[in-house]
Amino acid sequence: MKNKTVIITGASGGFGRTFTKTFLNRGYHVVATIRDEAKKSVLLEGLTPKEAEDMSFALLDVADEESVNNFGRFVQGLECVDVLINNAGFAVAGFAEELSMKEYQFQLETNLLGVMRVTNHVLPKMRKQGKGRIINISSISGLIGFPGLSPYVSSKYALEGYSESLRLELKEFGVDVVLVEPGSFQTNIWSSGTHMSSKAGSSHSPYFELFTGMNKRLQKDRETYGDPVEVAKLVLKVADKKKTPTLRYTVGKGVRLSLLAKRLLPWRVWEKIVLSQIRNKD
Ligand SMILES: NC(=O)c1ccc[n+]([C@@H]2O[C@H](COP(=O)([O-])OP(=O)(O)OC[C@H]3O[C@@H](n4cnc5c(N)ncnc54)[C@H](OP(=O)(O)O)[C@@H]3O)[C@@H](O)[C@H]2O)c1
Repeated sequence: MKNKTVIITGASGGFGRTFTKTFLNRGYHVVATIRDEAKKSVLLEGLTPKEAEDMSFALLDVADEESVNNFGRFVQGLECVDVLINNAGFAVAGFAEELSMKEYQFQLETNLLGVMRVTNHVLPKMRKQGKGRIINISSISGLIGFPGLSPYVSSKYALEGYSESLRLELKEFGVDVVLVEPGSFQTNIWSSGTHMSSKAGSSHSPYFELFTGMNKRLQKDRETYGDPVEVAKLVLKVADKKKTPTLRYTVGKGVRLSLLAKRLLPWRVWEKIVLSQIRNKD
């Protein structure tokens, strides 16, 4: 049987790198997209010669129109694309009042418009094939809002809406659209993958106390964050499913419970819980 082809955006680190290894291990041909050629060597580390042979690289910055157009030409040359994983992303953090529109745009260019740009280059191929699976890596932040993260949360909520519409549009063409919604996992998004607004953290800010509480919470919880392999196994399962996958898959410690609590509790109770978790600094 011919290898299936998967395109993975943002493959240089974090989930993307783990997805790449997991799909190669399963026998897929992986098109790993990176935006910095120097990161090729990181991805090749630890691969068997057969796995390295099954992988191709493409340069892609999803926030850059020209880069995506070049990538589109590369996609045209592929025989078939079975799975597209829109994974590339990062987080802009800060408090709404202190954020500029540029910072919101910066966030949306990658996490939302980037997904739309890439998808529009892959979609015609999948539609003509009469099959394909688009897996968008959303987040629990696409279902629950958090203070200090409104750009990121907005980008993921918008991704959820986009994906719901796209799923309905593509149903009759045999192309499935799926959202994977992870909780907190140990990747670089908590360090180099977060762009902190310049005003956040200033002791003159009215949000300083909230910021300090959030930081303490983050440091305390960080070591409990999950292993990206758990997400990779789920994404592979969704890609391999014989039956049509459902729209949403959540993954991660406490995610289901949080979603259930948010759905069932009155909002006033829910917000008290969220804020008390941040303000409780012990
Ligand atoms: N980790 C979590 O807890 C968590 C939870 C929920 C959802 N997610 C989502 O998972 C996805 C992957 O994030 P991660 O946690 O694996 O973070 P990560 O370790 O920081 O990896 C992010 C990847 O995205 C790439 N990237 C960022 N901006 C890009 C752009 N404009 N064009 C192309 N590639 C770009 C990065 O490339 P460079 O190496 O070039 O920077 C890197 O390969 C994101 O969509 C994120 O929102 C993560």
